[in-house]
Amino acid sequence: MGYISVRDLHKSYGQDEILKGIDLDINQGEVVSIIGASGGGKSTFLRCLIDLETIDKGEITLPEKNKMGMVFQSFNLFPHMTAAQNIMESLVVVDKMDKKEARKIAENLLEKVGLKEKADVYPKTLSGGQKQRVAIARALARNPEVLLFDEPTSALDPEMVNEVLNVIESLREENKNITMIIVSHEMNFVNKVSDRIFVFEKGKVKDIINNLENRKNY
Ligand SMILES: Nc1ncnc2c1ncn2[C@@H]1O[C@H](COP(=O)(O)OP(=O)(O)OP(=O)(O)O)[C@@H](O)[C@H]1O
Ligand SMILES: [Mg+2]
Repeated sequence: MGYISVRDLHKSYGQDEILKGIDLDINQGEVVSIIGASGGGKSTFLRCLIDLETIDKGEITLPEKNKMGMVFQSFNLFPHMTAAQNIMESLVVVDKMDKKEARKIAENLLEKVGLKEKADVYPKTLSGGQKQRVAIARALARNPEVLLFDEPTSALDPEMVNEVLNVIESLREENKNITMIIVSHEMNFVNKVSDRIFVFEKGKVKDIINNLENRKNY
């Protein structure tokens, strides 16, 4: 059994069965991508992993929930909070961390994603790529072991895609223990960063592509 294991996962919306028995294992430190047709259940699958959906049947084994971070297509930043406050929120509210300490972590993370000077601005003044980099910094705040990305660049203008993909790649380079599950249509990126690629089709894992050749060249 893997670090992350999914067995016979089923999920329906009403009469519509979206996930029809997903089985997969992911090792710690692995970067895997999920590809497949639109409407095939990729987002539903990620939401099941972090408990945003109740599952109908099956079993999911994961690290504790507070070890998981997720980045959404639409950023989901809190609009009434600055970039730094967005990042500090879970540290202060959930972990009861001292605000000064949380602020320091937020500043370090903003620097890591190239947005040091944006700590005190509100999301509405940021570009899409900048918002997504803040969202990535926020997902990193509690030092997750697992990061989930649901099409992190598909809401972005083309010229902003690379700044976000480069940040994800550099996280990977810095921390080989971090496990990533990435849903993306950016096939060049997927081929470059993934150890394995899961192909979803009709609610099942149709194929698993071992991407070792590409990793060697990476
Ligand atoms: N909350 C919901 N209630 C009802 N149906 C839903 C809900 N969420 C998703 N669906 C349906 O489930 C199916 C799978 O959706 P999902 O978003 O998981 O697909 P996806 O593979 O992520 O697609 P895309 O590549 O377009 O993001 C779709 O037919 C969608 O309409
Ligand atoms: Mg989706």
